[in-house]
Amino acid sequence: MVLLNSKPPIVIAHRGAAGEAPENTPAAFKLALEQGCDAFELDVHLSNDGQIVVIHDYAVDRTTDGHGDVSLLTVDELQRLDAGKWFHPSYQGEHIPTLEEVFDLTPPHIEINIEIKGGIGSGIEERLAELLRQKNRTGSVVVSSFHFNSLAALNRIEPALRIGLLYELWLKDHALLPKAAGIEAFSLHPSFRRLEAGQAEAAAAQGLAVYPWTVNAEADMTAMIEAGVSGIITDYPGRLRNLLERR
Ligand code: G3P
Ligand code: CA
Repeated sequence: MVLLNSKPPIVIAHRGAAGEAPENTPAAFKLALEQGCDAFELDVHLSNDGQIVVIHDYAVDRTTDGHGDVSLLTVDELQRLDAGKWFHPSYQGEHIPTLEEVFDLTPPHIEINIEIKGGIGSGIEERLAELLRQKNRTGSVVVSSFHFNSLAALNRIEPALRIGLLYELWLKDHALLPKAAGIEAFSLHPSFRRLEAGQAEAAAAQGLAVYPWTVNAEADMTAMIEAGVSGIITDYPGRLRNLLERR
């Protein structure tokens, strides 16, 4: 089969190597690096005192030993929580990192897909653009979100920033979405279950990268590789790297 997009997909470690380490912690990102990922995907919120912190849920309860909303806790309060032992006792002592801390542990050749979850309406877009400038990371991240209003704001604040549209929609032509949303997009991030034959290649032909999520089973990884996607978001970056090496 001849693929329009014949380059192998990049390996994007979802919340770090979230299948094998506590998601969105330094341990998960370090494991993903050891397993040969090309990029991290992570989720961000704004703490009560305006720091960008890396955690998936709006509340800390599921992934830490604390309680309450991320937006009501200060960065110090958040970082005192244990973010590892819920996953396995051997990870006791892991913490919620700030985004700045993740930048500092990320080698320059590793890309980062930052998904904005919380802080919309509280200025997270401005804070993020400012931090990216400070850390010289504007050109090596993709910022995605289910909240297209937040992405449109980022388009205005920092036109050079690469934006990814994140969605779980059945679409006939995915490449039409940026125009429909009024967003200058670099990439499309559909649920992999919504991607039908030929659609990734059609979007790639329009110059859009396609990064489906969250692809964990080998059979699904193979289907996405054969569909010609540009990158695969997975909780098991080691599994995907091995699969790509065997091909
Ligand atoms: O960015 C892809 C994926 O992470 C979106 O869903 O809930 O895992 O953040 P979720
Ligand atoms: Ca995410």
